[in-house]
Amino acid sequence: MNLLIMGLPGAGKGTQAAKIVEEFGVAHISTGDMFRAAMANQTEMGVLAKSYIDKGELVPDEVTNGIVKERLAQADIKEKGFLLDGYPRTIEQAHALDEILTDLDLVLDGVINIDVDPNSLLERLSGRIIHKKTGETFHKVFNPPADYNEEDYYQREDDKPETVKRRLDVNIAQGAPIIEHYRSQNLVYDIRGNQEIGDVFKDIEKVLMNLK
Ligand code: AP5
Ligand code: MG
Repeated sequence: MNLLIMGLPGAGKGTQAAKIVEEFGVAHISTGDMFRAAMANQTEMGVLAKSYIDKGELVPDEVTNGIVKERLAQADIKEKGFLLDGYPRTIEQAHALDEILTDLDLVLDGVINIDVDPNSLLERLSGRIIHKKTGETFHKVFNPPADYNEEDYYQREDDKPETVKRRLDVNIAQGAPIIEHYRSQNLVYDIRGNQEIGDVFKDIEKVLMNLK
């Protein structure tokens, strides 16, 4: 299966992606995770990405399209399928993805759109904690780890309230035409994101069982 998962910052894309990967075995491709890895390694691209991410702005399309194309061209994708998380995020990226998929002879099977009330997102992002060793995402209140020990977890730099506000504005402004692009191809499955994590996954599971 070749899938996209879409939703505003904090909608639960990464949380649900981990569950989808576990059950369906697709390759998880998160542009945000790729940029954070490059930032941690201080590569040239990482330094460039950081200058945008820290302000809550989008990394330029040429850079993002390039890393996605390179990843989708790898051999495991044809075998496992993919789940793109956080891409495309501009209509230009959606058009670039159409071309990339045609070039690589890949077809998109569905777009999971996690629909959430934007008012709940600040609370989700300010409470998000990530396990240093495994990279697993939790929430201090909504999804606490069993053995919470503050020094084993970190918070994302761009989860500060002032950056979150900008991220939400940018994503709300860019998101509608992308969803419309895929709706016109009957590829979109709307999922109610303001439910418990396990219930959101049950709804996604039903959709994917039918797509398989
Ligand atoms: P990216 O890393 O993609 O961030 P984002 O889109 O802002 O989304 P998040 O990862 O913050 O949220 P999520 O939906 O994955 O939520 P999560 O599951 O963690 O991108 C970061 C930056 O990189 C961008 O701002 C941009 O600068 C750059 N970038 C990335 N892609 C780009 C692109 N294509 N083009 C240009 N620039 C790009 O959940 C959040 C929290 O809520 C967690 O604590 C979780 O435990 C909790 N939670 C999850 N589900 C629920 C639930 N149902 N109920 C209660 N709590 C929940
Ligand atoms: Mg994420």
